[in-house]
Amino acid sequence: STLGASAAERGGRYFGTAVAASRLGDSAYTTLLNREFNQVTPENEMKIDATEPQRGQFTYGNADRIVQHATSRGMRVRGHTLAWHSQQPGWMQSLSGSTLRQAMLNHVTQVATHFRGQVTWWDVVNEAYADGSSGARRDSNLQRTGNDWIEAAFRAADAADPNAQLCYNDYNIDNWNDAKTQAVYRMVQDFRSRGVPIDCVGLQSHFTGGSNYPSNYRTTLSSFAALGVDVHITELDIRNAPADAYRNVVNDCLAVSRCRGITVWGIRDSDSWRSGESPLLFDGGGNKKAAYNAVLTALNNGTTPPGTPTT
Ligand code: G3I
Repeated sequence: STLGASAAERGGRYFGTAVAASRLGDSAYTTLLNREFNQVTPENEMKIDATEPQRGQFTYGNADRIVQHATSRGMRVRGHTLAWHSQQPGWMQSLSGSTLRQAMLNHVTQVATHFRGQVTWWDVVNEAYADGSSGARRDSNLQRTGNDWIEAAFRAADAADPNAQLCYNDYNIDNWNDAKTQAVYRMVQDFRSRGVPIDCVGLQSHFTGGSNYPSNYRTTLSSFAALGVDVHITELDIRNAPADAYRNVVNDCLAVSRCRGITVWGIRDSDSWRSGESPLLFDGGGNKKAAYNAVLTALNNGTTPPGTPTT
């Protein structure tokens, strides 16, 4: 009768949400969070600017609050994110070369060590590939430290927390035919063949409507899975929350055994980063939307639980 419980009955999957520490005092928010979800991802609180605002000085208060809220209720935590070109504190933006490489690796080591045993999955590296047809790495200060920066980050995370599952996370890697998808696929294939410790790929899945939800999404999920990694739908939201598109995403995940769960990027439309787009499963008043019912019904193998509103 809830998203999390129904997902758990489908091969132990999870259904999660991004959580903002600033909203944990809002009881309407926590009522939905605690009732519906069995996984959380801190929306901003584990990013580099939040956890290492000054070089070598680590602050974990808001992230710890979310982790405590989650783990005390049996919810699993996805850590987001250890290495990223964006949301870098000023001191990191100003570094380059081997100094930046060492600072990045130290950040990965320190943060993964702090949360060891509490974080089930880490987005070790986020958004490292360029959009468009090039299939190239995104230009960034991290990329300019050398093409091996991604595998170096994964090896550091593995050393710090050998039990965490280590993911590469990106957007616009949903369409199997896109150059960006193919480029990430080749990186994962290469890492698997050389023993670089990667366990999973996260598809953010920020969709702009039924139109950009690709019909080959299931092929993308199963193709990554065939490399021997789990796949996760990590930041799902869909402009105007069409029930059909949400249902298709859920069914695609359920069709791929290595698709271990779905995280929506916020609870209520009023919690979303996409202001004015109403992309989530609950409206601003906390009411279930049609997309919620479509998702729950799909998780229940197409069977609508008794008492579920259909509109
Ligand atoms: O917390 C500060 C606040 O103290 C300050 O007064 C205010 C003024 O701008 O900013 C607040 O920080 C904002 C933060 O969200 C918390 O609300 C940042 O400016 C704002 O840039 C930040 O946006 C986040 C964005 O990532 C950038 O990191 C969004 O909430 C978050 O939903 C979004 O999430 C990303 C994923 O991490 C990666 N994939 C894409 C996704 C959507 O952009």
